Amino acid sequence: MTLLFQGIVSLVTGGASGLGRATVERFVREGARVVICDLPKSHGEKLAQELGSNATFSPTDVTSEEDVKKAMETAKKQFGGLNVAVNCAGIGVAVVTYNAGKDRVHKLEEFQRVINVNLVGTFNVIRLAAQLINQNEPNADGQRGVIVNTASVAAFDGQRGQAAYSASKGGIVGMTLPIARDLASRGIRVNTIAPGLFDTPLLGELPEKVRKFLATSVPFPQKLGVPDEFAHLVQFLVENPMMNGEVIRIDGGIRMQP
Ligand SMILES: NC(=O)c1ccc[n+]([C@@H]2O[C@H](COP(=O)([O-])OP(=O)(O)OC[C@H]3O[C@@H](n4cnc5c(N)ncnc54)[C@H](O)[C@@H]3O)[C@@H](O)[C@H]2O)c1
Ligand SMILES: *[C@@H]1O[C@H](CO)[C@@H](O)[C@H](O)[C@H]1NC(C)=O
Repeated sequence: MTLLFQGIVSLVTGGASGLGRATVERFVREGARVVICDLPKSHGEKLAQELGSNATFSPTDVTSEEDVKKAMETAKKQFGGLNVAVNCAGIGVAVVTYNAGKDRVHKLEEFQRVINVNLVGTFNVIRLAAQLINQNEPNADGQRGVIVNTASVAAFDGQRGQAAYSASKGGIVGMTLPIARDLASRGIRVNTIAPGLFDTPLLGELPEKVRKFLATSVPFPQKLGVPDEFAHLVQFLVENPMMNGEVIRIDGGIRMQP
């Protein structure tokens, strides 16, 4: 067990499923306490019960100021503060900008919804987490805490139908450095992970044939990522004090085709 993780308090959005869930499970395994933030209808409550007293569920829509403030209060009241915030909540859509065959344009509301959850929601959590993390006494290195965000390789190689998704993830990539600079004087590091193809419920809905095909598009290893491999990188970003303002791809070398 890593000494650094012993007793730290973390908050993970999208923590009830997929990459967020793997992060929650790894953190608890490594001795951290975790506030699981996810939608009320998610499996968050069930997961918290399974994990025991070091995990708690705070029903949260990341786009809501009120919900996220409540989640921060839960971290403070139940676990005494916050050291690490991890943003994994996210949604996707697949709609082309203009479909000439069907004379159909991308709905503006659909574009706005993806930006709102993925980009605005991530920023909402970052700003309120920074406020709570700032209450910590800095450690010997002057560090108060760490924030990790989840973008996607679609921020760089977005495919057809990913205008909204790629824009939202590109926004997360773009704000990583300025936020790291904003929070530098407070001793809070900020990094972003850009995953390739990971085997989560998000991809699980695809037919087995499509999943197999996706796996063969990865140079090496030719497989979908395992969620704990993502969580391992989150842990590294928390533990390594020199990592700041960076965006890291974790993708087996994939470059998505159009
Ligand atoms: N799976 C992949 O291959 C992959 C690749 C690149 C990026 N990502 C990103 O990783 C993150 C996690 O994806 P995943 O594959 O684990 O998906 P997932 O669907 O398994 O998990 C996402 C979680 O976010 C929650 N969520 C959705 N909207 C929310 C909101 N408004 N407020 C709070 N929670 C909300 C969902 O309830 C769900 O539990 C997402 O941001 C996704 O875009 C995933
Ligand atoms: C909670 O975490 C602490 C370490 O921080 C550990 O000693 C304890 O056993 C854990 N409790 C449960 C219920 O897992």
